[in-house]
Formats: sequence, C-alpha cells, structure tokens
Amino acid sequence: MTKSRYTVTAALPYANGPLHLGHVAGVYLPADIFVRFLRMNQHDVAFICGSDEHGAAITLRAKKEGITPQEIVDKYDKMIGDSFKKFNIHFDIYHRTSSELHHKTAQEFFLKLEQNGKFVEETTQQFFDEEFQQFLADRYVTGECPKCHNPNAYGDQCEKCGSDLSPTELINPVSTLSGKTPVLKSTSHWFLPMDRHEEWLRPWIKDGILDGKQQHDPKEWRNQVLGQALSWIDNGLHARAMTRDLDWGVKVPLPSANGKVLYVWLDAPIGYISATKQWAIDNNKNWEDYWKGDTKLIHFIGKDNIVFHTIIFPILLKDHGDLILPDNVPAYEFLNLEGDKLSTSRNWAVWLHEYLERYPDKLDELKYTLTAIAPETKDSEFTWKEYQARVNNELGAILGNFVNRALVLTQKYYGGKVPALGAITPEDEAILAEIKEFPQRISKLIYAYKLRDAQVEVMNLARLGNKYLADTEPWKLVKTDEKRVETIMHIALQITANLSLILEPFLPTTAARLRNCLGLDLTTWEEIGKTDLLAVDTEVKTPDILFPKIEDTLVEAELEILKQSQQNNKPVETNKEPASQKAATTFDLFSAMDIRLGTITAAEKVKKADKLLQLTVDTGIDTRTIISGIAEYYTPEEVVGKTVAVLLNLEPRKIRGVESQGMILMAEDENGKLSFMIPEKGFKAGGEIR
Ligand code: 2FM
Ligand code: ZN
Repeated sequence: MTKSRYTVTAALPYANGPLHLGHVAGVYLPADIFVRFLRMNQHDVAFICGSDEHGAAITLRAKKEGITPQEIVDKYDKMIGDSFKKFNIHFDIYHRTSSELHHKTAQEFFLKLEQNGKFVEETTQQFFDEEFQQFLADRYVTGECPKCHNPNAYGDQCEKCGSDLSPTELINPVSTLSGKTPVLKSTSHWFLPMDRHEEWLRPWIKDGILDGKQQHDPKEWRNQVLGQALSWIDNGLHARAMTRDLDWGVKVPLPSANGKVLYVWLDAPIGYISATKQWAIDNNKNWEDYWKGDTKLIHFIGKDNIVFHTIIFPILLKDHGDLILPDNVPAYEFLNLEGDKLSTSRNWAVWLHEYLERYPDKLDELKYTLTAIAPETKDSEFTWKEYQARVNNELGAILGNFVNRALVLTQKYYGGKVPALGAITPEDEAILAEIKEFPQRISKLIYAYKLRDAQVEVMNLARLGNKYLADTEPWKLVKTDEKRVETIMHIALQITANLSLILEPFLPTTAARLRNCLGLDLTTWEEIGKTDLLAVDTEVKTPDILFPKIEDTLVEAELEILKQSQQNNKPVETNKEPASQKAATTFDLFSAMDIRLGTITAAEKVKKADKLLQLTVDTGIDTRTIISGIAEYYTPEEVVGKTVAVLLNLEPRKIRGVESQGMILMAEDENGKLSFMIPEKGFKAGGEIR
C-alpha cells in the first residue's frame, strides 16, 4: 500500500448535550480506530473534530435550560471534549464552530460562492411568530408530518419516518416559542440551487467519476450510503436556503443581510476546514495540503447525516472550485439500548461521561463491546448483559487469559526473561506461518471499513495463542522436556508481542499496557507478523489482570440506573447535597472517643460480601482485626501499608462471623465514594487524632 494523505473527519457533535454510546459506536470510535490504523501504516493524517455550536439545536436547548446559547455551548463543548480525552479518543484537533477563525472561514467560503453566482437570492413566505417577533426556521416549528402523520414532526425533518421537510409542509404548524399558530411573512434568503448539480452528482456517487476521472471506487461505499444519496437525487433535488433569520450563528457577510446567519448545515461542515486551519497553524502545517490535490477525504458520520455529506457539502466543495470531494462517507446506522431506541428526550441512554466516571479503568472493555456490535450495516443493540459477556467470555477468557498465561509462565520458568527458540516442530512452523497472515488480513478489512470483522480477526490471534498453549501444554511438558518448553514459550511471547501492536487501533490502552510489560515501543503495521519482535533474554513483566471480571452486580446496577433515570425522565442525580449539621454534642462525648492513626498491615476480601474487606491494623498499642465496608473503592493490595484514621474504642461487633475491633474513618465525596483520611508523611501508627 502506497502512503497516502488522509483528512479524516468525525461528525461535529452538537454542543447541546452530552455524548451517549450511540454517538460513540457510530462515529467517534470507528473513526479513531481507522486513524490509529492509518498512522501505524505511516499515512499522513489529519484527524478532525470539534463542537457544532450553531443552529436551532443550540438555541432551543438554551431556552429549555434557561441559560444563554453561549453558556450552553461552553458547557457542552467542555464536557464532550473532556469525555473524548478520558476515553482515549484522540483527534489532532477538537475545534469549535464558535471560534473566530471558523466564523471568518465560513464567511469567506459563503462570499466566494455568492460572488461566483452559486446562490440564488429569493424572497419567500416563511413562518413568523408574532408574539416573539421572530421567523421560525427548522425546529422552531413543529406539527403533523404530511407523510406519516406523526404529530410531533419538526420543521426540517420528521424523526419518525425520516422525511426531510420544510416548515410550511407541516399540518397544523405550531411555534415552539409561543405554542401558537405562526403566520406567513415574506423574507429573503440565499438558496443553493441543488437541482443544477444533479448532472455531475449522479455519476460521481454511482460510478465514482468526476470530471471524467475516477475519483473513488463506489464499490467501497456502503450500500445504505449509495442508496440514500441516489434516492435523494432520483426524487429530484430542490433549492435549499443557506441562510436563516436567527440571531445565533455565523453572520451572513453582506450588508443587505440584515443580521441573518448562515444555515447551520452550511457552516458546520466548513467547520472541518476551519479546524484543519487551526491545527495547521498550531503545528506548522499547510491546511491546503489536506483539502486540495491528492488527499483522501473521509467523513465518519451517523446515517441521519448522509445527505449533508454526500450531496450538500460536496456541492459546496465543488462550487468552491479548488477543494477535494469525499473519497468515502462511512455512515453508521443507529444503536439501540436494552430493546428500545436511544432517546435523549426520554433519557434512555448510557451517557459516556457517566460511564467514564463510574468505570475510569474500563475504557477498552467499552470500546471492545461497541466495536463488536457496531451498527455498520444495520441498527444494532447495546445491552449490559452483552457487555458483561463480551468482557468476561472474550476479553477476559481469550485475550486476558492468553497473555496472562504467557507472561506468568515466563516469570515462573525463566524469571521473566524471554527464553531461546530451539528446534521447531511442524506444529510451530504452522503457527509461525499463520501469525504472518494476520496483518494483511486485518488491513484489508480496515481499509474496507469492516471494523467489526477486523476486531474479530485480532481476537483470533489471541485465540491462536490460547490454542497453541492448550495443545502443547508447556505446564505438563516442563517436567520432561525443558528445552521444548523454551521454544513453546518463546513463540507464545512473540504472539503476545504481536498482540501488543495489532491491538493498538482497537484497544489502545490495553495495547500500551502490554507493550510496557514487554518493553516494546509502538512500531509500524509492517512490523506485525514478525516472530522476532522480542529478543532472547529480554525482561518482561506480568501485568495485573487485564480485564477484571464484570460481576452481575454491575449489570443490575446499570439496569437500575436506566430504569430510574427514565422514570424520572432526567439523569440520575448522583451528586448529593452536603448533609446539614447534626445536633450539638459535648466536648466530653467527643473526647471519650479514642481515635488514632493505624497502619494496615494485611487485607483480604470477606467471602460472599462484595463490600467488605477484613483488615489487620497496627494501632501502635496492639494489632487487631477490623472489618471495613470499603471493598468497592479499594482492593486489598491497595490498602496494605496505608496509615489511616481508626476509631479504637467502638464496641467490638461480629460481622460475617468475624469480630471487628474498631472502625476505619472514611471521607465521603458527593457521589458517595469513600476515601481514607491519610495524614501527612511522617505520622505513624498510634498517633492520636483530636
Ligand atoms: O448531527 C449532528 O450531530 C451534527 N451536529 C453533525 C454535524 S457534522 C458536520 F457537518 F459538521
Ligand atoms: Zn413522518
């Protein structure tokens, strides 16, 4: 594969709410996987995303929350950007369409097209709310869909049947501002005459031919993308207004525009270009290299964005005259949740930022599950049961198990050093040959945007490793044929090394952990398949369990959260108000309590009690046993050696058959999470707390 230049965009999320798993599975995660893969293949890539901060989506949300549009976008831009970072989804730039550079870029773009006669200025009748003295564009009007009779269709789209609408088509239109029936009033706008473009759009989409040249291979485009785009063209393209009577957005840069703004679907995709410009400024690059000439432009989007990325934006790009058109538009279908459609308004969603708060150490568990069920060709469904099964039965039982066996046995037999490769059997030969085939096979799938299948193949490498160990049984052979075991373990370690590279696009956090254990750096895709990635005698470390088991309690808790949040129709509020002050007590009562520092010298889980740890505590005057309800927050390994606050003279109490002789004092945060109270360095067990 020759090295190419790529501009990869991920749909700019509206900064009007947090991200849910549907967004992640159907845009951002696949884009991130694709880009990590491209980078390993040494392509020159700009990976672009940012917040979409204009349009009725923002102003209506601001109205609902009773704050300004600026406050809305500031709040959600930060929340979304932080979630991406925490989830280890890494764009070259996460930009904002509210930025000055974006406004300037969008205005220049509009002006160029306007000056070249690409728009038609026309006066039409539009809905107007007399009470609010405002024109009602797009979502500012709701009413009955003329096609499917859904009573709650929006002025630009019916979410039930998917029809693209204009506000005046609605039956019984109502203003979302006043709730009243709007009146019609004349206003002039700049329209994009899309009908003028049918002639080149059809062959470009259908055959990939533009200006007589093969621009892309339509066989590489997903059927539903081709289907939707062509059916739009077949149904006849009409002029679409590119400006709006709103006061939030990019101002139309013409004196006659009277404060009108650009249509959000004109300004948002130009956001890809302004983001590239900002990235180029920050990184000493030339943005034009990524939007002109021999660069592949790839748009990762959800299916509701297909028309904008295959028809409207390409028309704008072509009208501009010197910009490239997309090479592919991998669009994703929708992700359902626990048997129902994901819905922000009904709060039927798993919010990414909440997942990350609850499970900051389980990034790859979620990535793996979402890729395994990604809605690539049809809608798919996320359930917590499946998440549990994927993590336990695939990540844990296949990948985790293989890596753990390979590294633990190396530790046990060779003190952690890679043993030598001895005589090779036909069985080894077959394995070594098979390893070499993985990178090519996986490459093909990723270039074809079949990431689900590609991930299955990655796991097949771990399966191969497991099978090799199960067939050769080094743990038995070690008693009779030490030399042979060296060879087996050498090969098992080379498979582990290959996994630490081939996993990178899909499970980058795990891949990095593995490479850290093996002392490997991230290298290129070309290196994968080699069976000498680890030199003999290299020291390797054993990681902690890669994928701790997902217990039923997690599944139950998540289902409960969903149930509750839907019942309340608002997110479950986990942040507690601080408790009010308790009734007065006396100094004597306080000093009767013997509170001291104690050092935890041993800890273990209490059987059949998820929340309890049994601690052995050195109190400075004795060593005693204390049962503490902290197992949800600390593992036994984490607590040993910690010096913490202990109430010594609490009456002893039997808990689960063990006498607890005191109580560890804990601090509680606003989410109910417990943490030790640890003194500054130098304080020892026995120190009194007063
Ligand atoms: O559907 C959406 O969430 C839009 N904010 C996507 C915009 S993509 C691009 F064109 F900016
Ligand atoms: Zn409809």
